[in-house]
Formats: sequence, structure tokens, C-alpha cells
Amino acid sequence: MENYVEGKVIIITGAAGGFGRLVAQKTASLGASVVASDVNEAELEATCASISAEGGTALAVRADVTSRAEMKALAEQAVARFGAIDVMVNNAGIMPLAFFSLYSYRICQVQFGLLSSLVSSFLQK
Ligand SMILES: NC(=O)c1ccc[n+]([C@@H]2O[C@H](COP(=O)([O-])OP(=O)(O)OC[C@H]3O[C@@H](n4cnc5c(N)ncnc54)[C@H](O)[C@@H]3O)[C@@H](O)[C@H]2O)c1
Repeated sequence: MENYVEGKVIIITGAAGGFGRLVAQKTASLGASVVASDVNEAELEATCASISAEGGTALAVRADVTSRAEMKALAEQAVARFGAIDVMVNNAGIMPLAFFSLYSYRICQVQFGLLSSLVSSFLQK
């Protein structure tokens, strides 16, 4: 199977855990230069440390996807370090699965999560 990831520069938001961390680790293991981003700096550093420990290449950049200025700075840092951006994985988001519980107050969190996703998508256009 052809490796379409090798040599590519990939930004992954929400890379401090969950799917984002897995995508960062997998693409780095396939030879991509990973720009891992999140608001959770401690776990973001852990993601990049795990990639470096396996011989991969990763740059950690703290950025909130709802901030246009921070997303611009993220892109600039990616280009400054690796010279290009080939792939943007807009993974960061909030999806409280407890929405499906009986606690109605969770609805507010879901609304915030949806708003966060919409705002970040809009800002990245
Ligand atoms: N887990 C699921 O079942 C599921 C289902 C459908 C969609 N999703 C979506 O997939 C994505 C990843 O899911 P996950 O389960 O890995 O989530 P997760 O909560 O494990 O990880 C999400 C990451 O996004 C980061 N993040 C949140 N808000 C941010 C912001 N404003 N700026 C930057 N980073 C931010 C968090 O710090 C966290 O590290 C999310 O967007 C989620 O809504 C998840």
C-alpha cells in the first residue's frame, strides 16, 4: 500500500489526547512532520514526546481553535519550521457524550461544543 503521508507536513488540532493524539502518532510513524496543537499544553507535550521517542518529528504549538490570531500563529509556526502545510486535520472539539444521560444541564455544554466547532470551522476558512 502506498504511503501518502511520508514527507508531508500535517497540522493536527486537538492533539493532546483522544483521536488527535492517535492521528499525530500514526502519521508521524508514517514519516510525516507533525505540528501538534491543543490548548492542553501538558498533554500536548506528552504527545510530542511520545512521537520523538519513536524517532518521529513533531512540533507542539499551543493554540485555541476559536482564536483567529492563535490559528494564524499556528500556521505561521508550521511554515517557519517545516516550510509548508500539506494537510490540516481540524480535529479539536468538544462533544460531551453525557448529553445522552438524563441530566438536562448537559445541554448547555453540548451547545457550547457545537458553537466551538462552528466558530473554529469559520475562522479557518
Ligand atoms: N469520541 C467520539 O465518540 C466522537 C464522536 C464524534 C465526533 N467526535 C469529535 O472528534 C474530535 C475528537 O474527539 P475525541 O474523543 O478525541 O475528543 P477528546 O476530548 O479526547 O480530545 C479533544 C481535544 O481537543 C482539545 N480542544 C478542545 N477545545 C479546544 C480548543 N478550543 N482549541 C484547541 N483544542 C481544543 C482538547 O483539549 C482535547 O485535547 C472532537 O472534535 C469530537 O467532538 C468525537
